[in-house]
Amino acid sequence: MTALAKTKTPAFDVAKIRTDFPILSRTVHGKPLVYLDSAASAQKPQAVIDAITRAYTQDYANVHRGAYYLSETSTAAYEAAREKVRAFINAKSLSEVVFTKGATEAINLVAATYGRKFLKAGDEIVLTAVEHHSNIVPWQLLRDAVGCELKIVPVNLDGSIDVAEFAKVIGPRTKLVAIAHVSNVLGTVLPVREIADLAHAAGAKIILDGCQGIVHQHVDVQALGCDFYVFSGHKLYGPTGIGVLWARAELLDAMPPYQGGGDMIDSVTFAKTTWAPAPAKFEAGTPPIVQAIGLGAAIDYLNSIDRAAAAAHEDTLLRYAMTSLAQIPGMKLIGTARHKAAVQSFVMEGAHPHDLATVLDRSGVCVRAGHHCAQPLMEILGVSATTRASFAIYNTMDEVDALVTALRRAQEVLL
Ligand code: ALA
Repeated sequence: MTALAKTKTPAFDVAKIRTDFPILSRTVHGKPLVYLDSAASAQKPQAVIDAITRAYTQDYANVHRGAYYLSETSTAAYEAAREKVRAFINAKSLSEVVFTKGATEAINLVAATYGRKFLKAGDEIVLTAVEHHSNIVPWQLLRDAVGCELKIVPVNLDGSIDVAEFAKVIGPRTKLVAIAHVSNVLGTVLPVREIADLAHAAGAKIILDGCQGIVHQHVDVQALGCDFYVFSGHKLYGPTGIGVLWARAELLDAMPPYQGGGDMIDSVTFAKTTWAPAPAKFEAGTPPIVQAIGLGAAIDYLNSIDRAAAAAHEDTLLRYAMTSLAQIPGMKLIGTARHKAAVQSFVMEGAHPHDLATVLDRSGVCVRAGHHCAQPLMEILGVSATTRASFAIYNTMDEVDALVTALRRAQEVLL
């Protein structure tokens, strides 16, 4: 790596950031951990771990139910987390922020409630070829239930997707456009604002799978112009078991409940039940209390750093990785669109992605190998699997070098 490359983002103190993530100082197989799988799940800062510990050791009780001090503090902390999410994504009101157990549940919720109520036979849902299974299968379940159709917008060989292709597919029968904000395999950042405008011009709604988007860039749901935005906590440096469904208030009001149970009702008799208003209507049962508090702490953490500098740092890592990887003989980068987040898939001639990941692991380098829950995309790309390195705020240029060195060593072992 050149000295110039190393000094490209002086405003961002990655060494300081790394001290916030205790796991990063451990070794794996006797080697320093090089964690390049944050697109699957990000590591947690001490502030998140502390918030979880504090919630369980000091403030824990069920929420919305108890008339005692601990339940009140627990409820206040849970609802404070909702406010942190609201402000983080610039939602208009707290009632637009529904906690789920993850993005997958949030998409299933929309499909099972909005979808079953408002879509019928002959209606169309527009997806792209790059979608994660979690943004395909719920719509297939809906299609099988109501008889609507799925239309797929193609992806270009470099991983980009043309807005013009959306214009061809979106039409009077389109009721919903369901797309990734950022592809988890290719890193492509989709032009979601323009696509939202096309959807709305056709009278359709748009749901964005923001799992990889919100991690790498500031998200303002109002500026994006979408109707639904979903994301998971664990990719955003928060805990597992928590996700968010944001939807415009009038949509949540019109949607029936997803699950029945405690806390989502207004009144219950054996003859009839009425619902609580959103978000409670969609949060049946005891919610993921501490997970929500942990997500709130992750948001506090992100708000405490310079996110624009972090994004620039990630972009520098990505560009450096793309250049360095491309110099390895037999290497093919998968996903080279101009607008990309810090996710890079690749295949190396003669080495199966799973073997590659296993050999890299011996050098302490963690990458994901497989179809990345995007089998239709793999088929289009003509591969059964890829190896994927994904970069987060805590990764360094030296770790990119470690990846490249480990790949060159792996070639010696595998070829
Ligand atoms: N969706 C996650 C990934 O892309 C698990 O790895």
